[in-house]
Amino acid sequence: MTRPVRAGAPLLEIRGLSKHYGTIRALDDVSFHLGRDEVVGLLGDNGAGKSTLVKCLAGAVIPTAGEVYLHGEQKVFSTPAEARREGIETVYQQLALVDIFDIAANFYLGREMTRTGWRGRFGMLDRRSMKKRARAAVELLPARFPNLDALIETMSGGQRQVVAISRAGFWGGRLLLLDEPTAALGVKEAAAVLEMIGAMVSAAETDMAMIVISHNMDHVWSICTRLLILRQGRLVADLLKSETSRQEVVAHITGAFD
Ligand SMILES: Nc1ncnc2c1ncn2[C@@H]1O[C@H](COP(=O)(O)OP(=O)(O)OP(=O)(O)O)[C@@H](O)[C@H]1O
Ligand SMILES: [Mg+2]
Repeated sequence: MTRPVRAGAPLLEIRGLSKHYGTIRALDDVSFHLGRDEVVGLLGDNGAGKSTLVKCLAGAVIPTAGEVYLHGEQKVFSTPAEARREGIETVYQQLALVDIFDIAANFYLGREMTRTGWRGRFGMLDRRSMKKRARAAVELLPARFPNLDALIETMSGGQRQVVAISRAGFWGGRLLLLDEPTAALGVKEAAAVLEMIGAMVSAAETDMAMIVISHNMDHVWSICTRLLILRQGRLVADLLKSETSRQEVVAHITGAFD
């Protein structure tokens, strides 16, 4: 297996991460590290363990074994709130947006549970300043939302995905996990989402890194610089895009090298 060597303290390092469900090895002894500003595509067939890996990093699934380090410090996440507190933001295919709320309310959703001092005060929050901050964040994005008061239920799938991703970026995550951000989107909508991810990456003078799951090779190729390939729970390849080809990647996914 190829493994690019990277200098400096990694933003993320995982060692021997496994998740077993009975006899199913959803994730099996996976190790890799991720540097700042890296945009990594996580690829693999259905059931390869991609979502399980993301969920372990997001605190939504407790690994059976293995360790997670952020900037060299070991972290154990028992809940998604704990992972978020460490700057890990996740966008799932099934979006955690609330249809009957507007964009600003969705930006702040769940934060009342996690931020000190906000507990139980959501209903009393200053809606005007929330909206002002949400608007400032949204204005940095290539996607246009003419009306921040628009309810999520009135938006297209692509617009919703853009709201969810910008929400994750808004909170200044160090590590953004996107599980199939373009699945179920039309060509135009997917392009808008990819454009936004690209803009976030190039605008980020921060430490932000991203792991993007997608079955669409064109989408992965357009935004990622490195590819991790899972097969039956195991990491079978860790490749720099500049040093590989789509054919090689597909061969790893389908197990042609087995
Ligand atoms: N909660 C669970 N209970 C039992 N088995 C599970 C559970 N979650 C995932 N699995 C199994 O773990 C394996 C990996 O699943 P995972 O969802 O991580 O795959 P994936 O790579 O995201 O696939 P897809 O591309 O279809 O989304 C599969 O065999 C799946 O059936
Ligand atoms: Mg999945």
